[in-house]
Amino acid sequence: MSIKDQRIQFDIPQDIVYLNTSYMSPLLKDVSEAGRNAVDQKSRPYQVKPIDFFEPLTHLKSLFARLIDCNQPERIAMIPSVSYGIATVIKNITLQKGDEILTLAEQFPSNIYGWQRLAKESGATLISIAKPEVQNNIGKQWNENILDAITESTAVIAICHTHWADGTLYDLKAIREKATSVNALLIIDGTQSVGALPFSVQEIQPDALICAAYKWLLGPYASGLAYYGPFFDSGKPIEENWSNRLNSENFSGLTTYEERYKPFANRYNMGEQANFIAIPMLTKAIEQLLEWTPEAIQTYCREISIDALKKLEELVCTIESEAYRGHHLFGIKLNPAISLEALKSEFEKRKIFVSIRGAYIRVSIHLFNTKEDLNALVDAVNYVFENK
Ligand SMILES: Cc1ncc(COP(=O)(O)O)c(C=O)c1O
Repeated sequence: MSIKDQRIQFDIPQDIVYLNTSYMSPLLKDVSEAGRNAVDQKSRPYQVKPIDFFEPLTHLKSLFARLIDCNQPERIAMIPSVSYGIATVIKNITLQKGDEILTLAEQFPSNIYGWQRLAKESGATLISIAKPEVQNNIGKQWNENILDAITESTAVIAICHTHWADGTLYDLKAIREKATSVNALLIIDGTQSVGALPFSVQEIQPDALICAAYKWLLGPYASGLAYYGPFFDSGKPIEENWSNRLNSENFSGLTTYEERYKPFANRYNMGEQANFIAIPMLTKAIEQLLEWTPEAIQTYCREISIDALKKLEELVCTIESEAYRGHHLFGIKLNPAISLEALKSEFEKRKIFVSIRGAYIRVSIHLFNTKEDLNALVDAVNYVFENK
């Protein structure tokens, strides 16, 4: 199914060219409204019932489970950030000297710092698989190098689906197969992909999938969702909160202290998980994503960007081949003749919002963007190139 542009559902002024969902997505108007209603609700605490601490999150988890093709919503936990979701993973992994943790070059720090500490404390080795220094087929080569790096020593592969800085797409299915053959855990940071790029837990079988909500899940800041697979079923949470224990629905029995956790990933929910503002917002956002579907978002993003990317290639900018990048997020390596400083000031003048990551301009697009937005980007690059 192809969808048309959905700008009307967002509150983006006509003169703004926002190509930066990887930095932070705008909210859907419906999601903003859900947030405003939720703020107002706090003025009426007498309307909040004990069941409201549990049911909305249960519903949200079932929606997110559908989005990631997971048939056990109880494997989902509410988290405040990626670093929190990764901390839970790390708390439940024991490594030894000689074990290896594989990561990718220039990976986002929230999926690095915890591993650095674990490596230091356990004597394991943290390996960062470099981005290949080749002119063409970088993504293909990078994927091959990842597969080659997985050996009997690999204990954990902690990566992502699309690289946050340049959009490189990793073949998680092949990586999972190799990981399984050496008994390694596969931990994925889905922040820059889930919501816009199809992901199937049933197909990839990650051991954990951690997602912040404020980018491609179109949700508020300081909230996120994580999937934890069977490896983590009897692990320890990083904090002990009342609502993760069995029978916590019975408010009058809360001091009959309970040793048992609720099943599966429920033990990993953050404290105050029933976030009365974030949950209704994220629920509305994921409902809309499920209606659109990540497949259709990819198709739309491809349709609006394909011509512009060809034009940029004609200006001798380098873009990864379609097979090894997402259509929602890609890096454009600038022709060295183009001054980054001049381009930045041109973007500012023309109200074009992208991220600059090293030698790359990171462009990230969604259903509120149109071909005209991408043409505006090409015009700005072309202008700087011709006036160099
Ligand atoms: C790949 C990736 N992971 C995680 C985050 C955010 O991490 P945290 O939720 O720990 O702030 C970002 C933010 O840019 C990101 O790009």
